[in-house]
Order: sequence, then structure tokens, then C-alpha cells
Amino acid sequence: MADEEKNGRPAGSAGETPGSQPGLQQSKGDSRAVARDEDLQPTWTDKDGNVHRKRILTGDRTTGKLHLGHYVGSLKNRVKLQTQYDTFVLMADVQALTTHWENPKILKESVREVALDYLAVGIDPYTGGVDDGTRTKIVIQSAVPAIAELTCLYGLFTPMSIILDNPTTKAEAQQYGFGASEENADVVLNEDDRQLYQELASKLHTEFPELGSELSPSDLVVIVGSLGSSGDVSLVHDLEGHGYADNAVAAVLHSARALRVVREQLISMKRSAGIRQMNYGFLGYPVSQAADITFVNAHLVPVGVDQVPHIELTRDIVQRFNRQYGKRRRILVEPQALVGKGGTLKGIDGNAKMSKSLGNAIYLSDSPDEMWQKIKPAPTDPQRVRRDDPGRPEVCNIFSYHQVFCGGNEAGISEDELGVATVEEVAVNCRGAKWGCVECKQQLHRKITALTEPMREKRSYWEQHPDDMIDILKLGTQRGIEEGEQTLQRVKDAMSVRYWD
Ligand code: TRP
Repeated sequence: MADEEKNGRPAGSAGETPGSQPGLQQSKGDSRAVARDEDLQPTWTDKDGNVHRKRILTGDRTTGKLHLGHYVGSLKNRVKLQTQYDTFVLMADVQALTTHWENPKILKESVREVALDYLAVGIDPYTGGVDDGTRTKIVIQSAVPAIAELTCLYGLFTPMSIILDNPTTKAEAQQYGFGASEENADVVLNEDDRQLYQELASKLHTEFPELGSELSPSDLVVIVGSLGSSGDVSLVHDLEGHGYADNAVAAVLHSARALRVVREQLISMKRSAGIRQMNYGFLGYPVSQAADITFVNAHLVPVGVDQVPHIELTRDIVQRFNRQYGKRRRILVEPQALVGKGGTLKGIDGNAKMSKSLGNAIYLSDSPDEMWQKIKPAPTDPQRVRRDDPGRPEVCNIFSYHQVFCGGNEAGISEDELGVATVEEVAVNCRGAKWGCVECKQQLHRKITALTEPMREKRSYWEQHPDDMIDILKLGTQRGIEEGEQTLQRVKDAMSVRYWD
């Protein structure tokens, strides 16, 4: 249990984490969404006094093989947690298609690669027979009909506003280039109108400071132009009284009522920026993720901080469901995020995140030689030009890797056993220019290859036993199908979606 608690977050700081992630808004949501130490006891007791393992569900989009960032951020932790909790790992192939729908052919190979990665890092798979909760069920998302059906049912009572305000989908939308709409960009105005629109912008800004100062004139033109055909009869009447037919913007400027309507439209435009270019499936994937988590009624979801908004949404859906349809019974379990302390591993190029699309990833399946080809040219302290310049470990990305993969760290390896330098020695050798960067990198390479050596061995075993691996996927998925079917029946019963037995 003590070990477990190290993975939890200190009580009192729960819910604050998302704000600390660059690019993510402060989560205003549910303070119980991130598990605290007291939530981590690995068992629960039912009303008859029977003790059960708590359930964990976690998952990955199957868009390609997994890398060291996945290992540090979550895989290592999963391998540890599976010994205490009843664990399900979901291969989220449908979610992968929310961004890769044009290229579905990647799925088959990705599923194989990710399965090999799981087995290589030490996921201990369920291989049939009675499921006593001690082995990990690897489940393929698309093969569980209940996930799709739950997604559909949850969508019926999920407010659009929560979906539109999700900071993680917003950040991802930017990453995938679903930018703001360009449709209205080129509006040409004559000089008089331009002045009036500027006046309108500044009036709106003074009266409604919440709109911010960046009011795009082209948005205003579109909104002003549409007010005359609005379904709001008294607004139209009011505008006509102010001479809308002759000069629309002047009329809007003089109608308090019209100004309020413009404000509302600007707010909803802001919300929907970029949404027009997204697919429905992408926008809605957090609802589907709520189905991923609840189809097995998971208690804990080990994830990175970027996923906390999705756990908050899941809790919101569960609370709405239980309140609306549960008649005080808690039909669905409110899950909590278990945010690992591994953190985010930077890319080997120093970029904030290791990722396949940035081309800065070291894969778990890379050979020692491939790893060296990536480590050797990696940037270090830019001020250390010559061999005898003293280095600054605190600005060096390679040094940050030494820290992550050191013996004292969860995802690290013991320097003693390996006969390599400790973090302190690395720092001293760098500052004192006793080592060149190449020597330092060689030390890191030894740490990482030693850490991944057992993975390459296990991987090669499973590569040679592909049918056994397929069986593991089938058996895990079968358990998922069974669990999902039970949950779905309870949900449908509660929602009165049943007409005969
Ligand atoms: N969205 C997760 C990611 O991008 C993957 C995922 C899909 C997931 N379903 C899940 C994670 C359910 C946790 C629980 O990494």
C-alpha cells in the first residue's frame, strides 16, 4: 500500500494538476476527479461483506508503437498496479480513427505493435478460465458493442457546453489543425462602415468586458447582417425602428437589445471556432471515453494530466445518470483519475513532448543501435561548444533523461547493478568538463538499453508466438464483451429501454 500511495497525489492538491500543464486551462471541475491517497485502497467490500479488488481501466489509441514517453508516463505504473487491482487495458482503436479515419489501414499493424509493447513491458495477461481479477484483460475497443451503445445513450444527456469547453479536445484540435474558421475572413468595408464597426467593437468591449478586446470585424459584419432575418420578432421590430434597412450597423449601435444579441452570438462563435472542421466523432470522443471507462465500472483510471478533463466528464455523466435514472441507486461507478508521478518525458530533440508525429521518439522496440542513432545527435547545452567548456546540466535535455532513468526513479534502473554513473556523478562530470557530451550520452544509452533489454527479449518471444498473442487479445476482449453486456443491460433497464425479456 505504501508503494501505491506514492503514485497518488498529495491530498489537497487534487484537481489542481491540469492547470499546471502548459496549454491546458485550469480545470474548474470536480475536485474528486483525481484520486487521493485514501481513494487508493485496492479493495472494496460489498453489502454482504465480500471483498473485491477495485477495478482499473486504462487505454491507448492504437496509432503506432509505444515509446519511452508512454513507459515513463503510464506503462511502468500499470505494470505495478496490475498486481493489486483488477485491471483492464483498452486498445482504443475507434478513438484512434477519430484522427486517423483517412488511413484505417494503420490499425491492424498498430494493434499488433501495441499488444507486443504491452506484453514486452510486463503486462500479465488474462489467458482464459475463471477471471479472479489477478490478470490483466487486454480488450479491443471496437469489438465491444456495449461501448458503442453506451456512447450513444450517454450522448442523450450530455450537455453540448461541456463538450465544447473541454480543454484537452481544444488543444488537440489545434494540434491537428482544426483551426478557427476562415470563412468570414475577407470582408471589405467602405470607410464609413469601417468606422461604425470599430465603434461597435469598442462599445461592445466597454459594455461587455467579458468578450475580451479581440473582436474580429468580419465576425461582427456577419452577425450584424444576420440580425434582420432573426426569428426574434421584437428584435427585428426594434432594429427597424432604428433604421436597420438603411444602415444596419448604425441601427445595431443604437439598440441595447441588439447589442445583447450580438454579445451572445459572439460568445457562441468563439465557442465553435474550429468546430466546423472537426468530425462529429472527434468532438464527441470524450463521451465515448466515458463509455470506455464505465463499461467495466472502473474505480480508477491511471492517466496523464491531460486526460483529467475526460475523467471529469465521465464523472459528470455518471452523476447525471445515477441522479436521473438510478432512483438513488448508484448504478454506475464514479471513476477517479490516478495521475502517475512519472510526468511527461521530453522528446529526444528537447521538444516538450515525446511523440511519433514530432519524430522525436525512442521506441520501446528500437534496437540498441537505433537508440544510439537517436541519442548521438541530440542537442545538449548549447553553450558547451568545445570539449573543455564546462556544461550546465540544468539546461541539458540529456541530463533530464539521466534524471528520469536513474535508479531513484520509478521508471529508472539501478546504476549500481549496471556500473554506470549516478545522476550526481553525471552532473559533476558535466560541470567540471571531465566528460564530453558523447561520453555522457554513452552512459545514458547504456541505462536505456539495459532498461529495455528485457522488453526486447519478451517482445521477440511474442513475435514468434503470434497465435498465442491473438488468443490473449480474443480472451481479454471476450471478458470485456461480457462485462459490457451486463453494464449495458443495467443502463438500459434504468432508462426504460426494454420492451420484453
Ligand atoms: N484518450 C486516451 C489517450 O489519448 C486513450 C484512451 C481511450 C483512454 N480510452 C481510454 C485512456 C479510457 C483512459 C481510459 O491517451
